[in-house]
Amino acid sequence: MFLRNCWYVAAWDYEVHRLQLMRRILLDEPVVLYRKANGKPVALEDRCSHRHAPLSMGRVKGDNVECRYHGLTFAPDGACVRIPSQESIPPTACVRSYPVVEKFHWIWIWMGDPALADPALIEDFHWMGDPGWRFKGERLDIEGNYLLIVENLCDLTHLPFLHLTSLADTAIPPNDIPVKTERHGNAVRVERWVLDTPTPPYFRLLGKFKQDDRVDRWMHLEFSPPAMVRLDIGAAKAGTGALDGDRSQGITTRNLNAITPATARTSHYFWAQAQDFGLDDPTITDVDFQLVHGAFMEDLAIIRGQQQNIDLAPAAPRLNIAADTGGLQARRVVERLIAEERVQPREG
Ligand code: FES
Ligand SMILES: [Fe+2]
Repeated sequence: MFLRNCWYVAAWDYEVHRLQLMRRILLDEPVVLYRKANGKPVALEDRCSHRHAPLSMGRVKGDNVECRYHGLTFAPDGACVRIPSQESIPPTACVRSYPVVEKFHWIWIWMGDPALADPALIEDFHWMGDPGWRFKGERLDIEGNYLLIVENLCDLTHLPFLHLTSLADTAIPPNDIPVKTERHGNAVRVERWVLDTPTPPYFRLLGKFKQDDRVDRWMHLEFSPPAMVRLDIGAAKAGTGALDGDRSQGITTRNLNAITPATARTSHYFWAQAQDFGLDDPTITDVDFQLVHGAFMEDLAIIRGQQQNIDLAPAAPRLNIAADTGGLQARRVVERLIAEERVQPREG
């Protein structure tokens, strides 16, 4: 059961082409993505209304898609416009067409009631494409439920253990970091400040800090449904006002994540790393991206193992500890929204 009346990321902009049909399973539904002659993306049900052949195995004709099996042809709105072997086209011959919007280098898709698809509801990921930032991202296939990834991102206390060799910051034991968790509507915000400490290796690597500089640093996170997690991580010279909003003596990285369920057990993980410094130096973007990518590979292995165990015993109890507060709140928001959508099914 997934939340349907919301925007999900279906693809990176560079994954969707004019004459190349791309199949992707989203929320248990097969979807085919391509672009019209004017460049606008299209998303159709990837299941021909005739004998269920994937339309993605067919070909693009003008702005339409022709099924490879018996040639039924579908327009971007899903209407069947041609049945080669007969004159009449029954209205039931159509396939589903999904609202799509291209924004922040992602192709966003609305899997619920098309009448409710308001582009203003797309979450803010402006750091990708903003001239004040550089970014690099990718898509990863995850063998795990999307909420396992949300939980992973909402709890940074796993860093010194799982990411011992990549992101771990052994200078500050996680238990010593005060955490403030707040709800803002359906969003969950977790704030962490660490004041006046030696510069951790991550910031020494990326930034202009010197060996003996002391820094104030922040690790904030915002979750918003269905599965968007944006981290705001940075450091500034100690005592230069970062706590009050002046980051002029600091550097900020944004870790941007959008997870889209493929099935209940598999997910598409879209993420990017963005920086507001070293804008003329692409190596910083690469180093930051590779560092986080390496850590995510460690996360994926754990998530795959978690999912295998969940499949073996779905009802086995899970222990919750204090560090789970953010992840649990995120999970509860999603579960409540799904329950609300089921009470008032608004799908057309
Ligand atoms: S299955 Fe598509 S035309 Fe027959
Ligand atoms: Fe991790």
